[in-house]
Amino acid sequence: MINRRRALYLLYFLLFVLLCAVIYDTYKKNQARLRYRLRTDTEPPWLPDDTCRDVERKIGIANIKTFNSDEIKAQIQYLQRCPWSVNVSTQTALRTELQACCNAGRYFLVTQENTRIGDNITYETRKDKHVEVTKKLHEIFPKTSPFLNKRIRSCAVVGSGGILLNSSCGSEIDQADYVFRFNLAPMNYSKDTGTRTNLVTANPSILRQRYAKLNEERRPFMNLVEIYESALIVMPAFSFIRNTDLSLKAFYTLEDFGSRQKVVYFHPNYLENLALFWKEKDLEVRRLSSGLMIVSAALEICNKVMLYGFWPFSEDPNGKPIPHHFYDDELPNISQHNMPDEFFFYSQMHSKGILKLKIGRCF
Ligand SMILES: *[C@@H]1O[C@H](CO)[C@@H](O)[C@H](O)[C@H]1NC(C)=O
Ligand SMILES: *[C@@H]1O[C@H](CO)[C@@H](O)[C@H](O)[C@H]1NC(C)=O
Ligand SMILES: *[C@@H]1O[C@H](CO)[C@@H](O)[C@H](O)[C@H]1NC(C)=O
Ligand SMILES: *[C@@H]1O[C@H](CO)[C@@H](O)[C@H](O)[C@H]1NC(C)=O
Ligand SMILES: *[C@@H]1O[C@H](CO)[C@@H](O)[C@H](O)[C@H]1NC(C)=O
Repeated sequence: MINRRRALYLLYFLLFVLLCAVIYDTYKKNQARLRYRLRTDTEPPWLPDDTCRDVERKIGIANIKTFNSDEIKAQIQYLQRCPWSVNVSTQTALRTELQACCNAGRYFLVTQENTRIGDNITYETRKDKHVEVTKKLHEIFPKTSPFLNKRIRSCAVVGSGGILLNSSCGSEIDQADYVFRFNLAPMNYSKDTGTRTNLVTANPSILRQRYAKLNEERRPFMNLVEIYESALIVMPAFSFIRNTDLSLKAFYTLEDFGSRQKVVYFHPNYLENLALFWKEKDLEVRRLSSGLMIVSAALEICNKVMLYGFWPFSEDPNGKPIPHHFYDDELPNISQHNMPDEFFFYSQMHSKGILKLKIGRCF
């Protein structure tokens, strides 16, 4: 009899504890939700922590070969409503891998240190062709790599995607210690894209199409380049044979005009190793985009990497059509690249705390 009553008390007690736990859990969740909702009127509400961790896990284990572009798109949108922080251990692991294969600090650019007079520079896309490094060619390379043995605190990699339009991300981008940009992108959208540039890539096709291969007046090209402070202008001089002369001409043009900017060259061996690196991760592309080249280098060189303007879809997350670039709506010719697959990796690195992929508005 006594034992039965005791068991009953015990049961009541346990039920009571359970009830308390449920009430406490609901209270915590509500409080969290309230906190998220109160952040600002305009920011979308933040998601509960467990939802965030679920989505992170899902993207983290997704496979490039089987992923569905729409799904990744939806999930990375969710993650824009989750707090993000660097995961030092996953970040260091990837950086160590990248350093072992590619070593951007030393080999990202052709320098006097990593290339000697008399060396042959083999073309990235034509293994049977090379350029011999003469004394005159050697002189135009920078003495050493600007990234040798140093780590930049925070880097913004500013893609040219139409998603940047009306993003108001300019002031956030300007807070980074180092700003990478692409293909001589215009700078008169500073509210959305910021004002500072430390490194900008230049596709020789621009010089071909808009500046008459620098065979005629060169002032218009100088006017274009002058908007980039004292940035490095990186050209793929040794990727395709047809690019070499034009890339050298760009160097001499800037030098003749006493420009603050300097033309430097991607090292073709670096790009080749990088392509192998990503191929081993099952990225199937004819050639990496300059976006992935720069992001990969930034992951080695910078402690914190933030991506803006990377969104390879023709509609924004709300389904509104967006232009191809923030500055025009010209689609590329038959592309050698596979932007959605590259985006898969950016999403995955975001979910693992390796880099931060910013999509949508900055508040
Ligand atoms: C970092 O990632 C690892 C591996 O996914 C995980 O085990 C660890 O908990 C993460 N660390 C932090 C601080 O989130
Ligand atoms: C570079 O290539 C030339 C042939 O074009 C060859 O004679 C020379 O030995 C090569 N130099 C080196 C350092 O491999
Ligand atoms: C930037 O400059 C281009 C070319 O001059 C012009 O077409 C465009 O409207 C400008 N954009 C803004 C936001 O000022
Ligand atoms: C950006 O804002 C302007 C002005 O509000 C609007 O006309 C334009 O459609 C917007 N563009 C995009 C891509 O959202
Ligand atoms: C596309 O390729 C054709 C032929 O090579 C060229 O004439 C045209 O200018 C290219 N268009 C763009 C946008 O690059």
